Amino acid sequence: MERVIDLNKYLPDIITHYLDIARDAALELGYDIYLVGGAVRDILLKDYDIHDIDLAIEGDTAEFADLFRSKIEPVGFIYHEPFNTATFTISDDLHIDIAMCRTESYPQKAVLPIVEPAELRDDLKRRDFTINAMAISLTEGNKLVDIFSGEKDLKNGIIRILHKKSFLDDPTRIWRAVRYACRFDFEIEPSTLTLIERDKGNLSLLTPERRRYEMECVLNEKEPVKTLQKAKELGLIDLSAELIKRLEDAGELDELTFMAVYLEDKTDDVILRECEYWGLNSHDRDILMEVKDLKSRTVQKQHSKIYKTLKNYPEKALEIARRLTRDSRMKDMLSYYLDTARETVPFLTGDDLKELGYPEGKLLGEKLQELFMLQLDGEIDSREDAIARAIKL
Ligand code: CTP
Repeated sequence: MERVIDLNKYLPDIITHYLDIARDAALELGYDIYLVGGAVRDILLKDYDIHDIDLAIEGDTAEFADLFRSKIEPVGFIYHEPFNTATFTISDDLHIDIAMCRTESYPQKAVLPIVEPAELRDDLKRRDFTINAMAISLTEGNKLVDIFSGEKDLKNGIIRILHKKSFLDDPTRIWRAVRYACRFDFEIEPSTLTLIERDKGNLSLLTPERRRYEMECVLNEKEPVKTLQKAKELGLIDLSAELIKRLEDAGELDELTFMAVYLEDKTDDVILRECEYWGLNSHDRDILMEVKDLKSRTVQKQHSKIYKTLKNYPEKALEIARRLTRDSRMKDMLSYYLDTARETVPFLTGDDLKELGYPEGKLLGEKLQELFMLQLDGEIDSREDAIARAIKL
């Protein structure tokens, strides 16, 4: 039975406005155009928080993109020549991606596919899960195209791949299965689960950049720790119960905070190896090393000593260490530095000291530092005081 989706009922006006324009542009060129992927799934789930719209066109993407662009004047536009796709930025909150309907073939496991133009059916067949392989035909009265019973799986809360080679072609789908299962509280159906078990070893064939992207996606989920817990159960990542608890306690998890917990208590060699595996750059790796180094610092009480101990650490490392430390005295020390010492404006500047007769050079720097330390320790509490001290020093 034909099922028509009333988009006006499910989508905000701003989105249906652009979909109407896309449909008219496609009709003008004689092409068929479809809403595909996550947006269709979310509409059927009645989850209206949609910011990314994927459109698939049976036709020439470049020609369509030119016409669509002339009708909407987006704030941003990128045409990706090698993939024949276009991205329109409508606002910070709304992006429209346009791609030609295509088939994909994988020359080797875990590499990016070779693509060729095709019909919608083939385009849907190349996708990851039944719930993501539905389309709404904008040029045919918003008819739902659901050749893999994705809507039924949505209703029953099931994550199911479309064919047995899916995870071999693209192992990132294993992480995607885990994300969707946790996000929607769905079950991964048994044969999909068996294939995850069979193919998960291929995650090691991905480039570090692609692994990192998957990790970012996990951390951007509403419940990243639940997702990580599931990944652990499926043997995708090695996390002890203690680490899971630490991740829960860490609050909002950005990538570096996650890695700092994940690599806590690991040797330098392991940290280096894991950073490489997860595609972290040398800057990020250095921050993780500094977080580790901070743990071994002796807690200081005197303000000037705190300042001297912490002043050469990058701010990001200090912030992560503050969030993660379980030692309340260490937390206080980091907070004093980050919130107070770093924000304190010295009473005197180098120019002030020069006016008082100090010659330019190393000595002047040392005196400034000495005065600032006295200020932090409360031994100087005004500019006048500082000038008096500077004269004596
Ligand atoms: N897709 C796929 N295999 C992948 C990545 C994506 O088949 N490895 C397809 C799916 O049909 C997916 C669509 O491309 O729905 C768009 O991908 P993406 O934007 O990553 O996901 P969304 O489904 O939009 O989901 P999310 O809500 O996680 O952004």
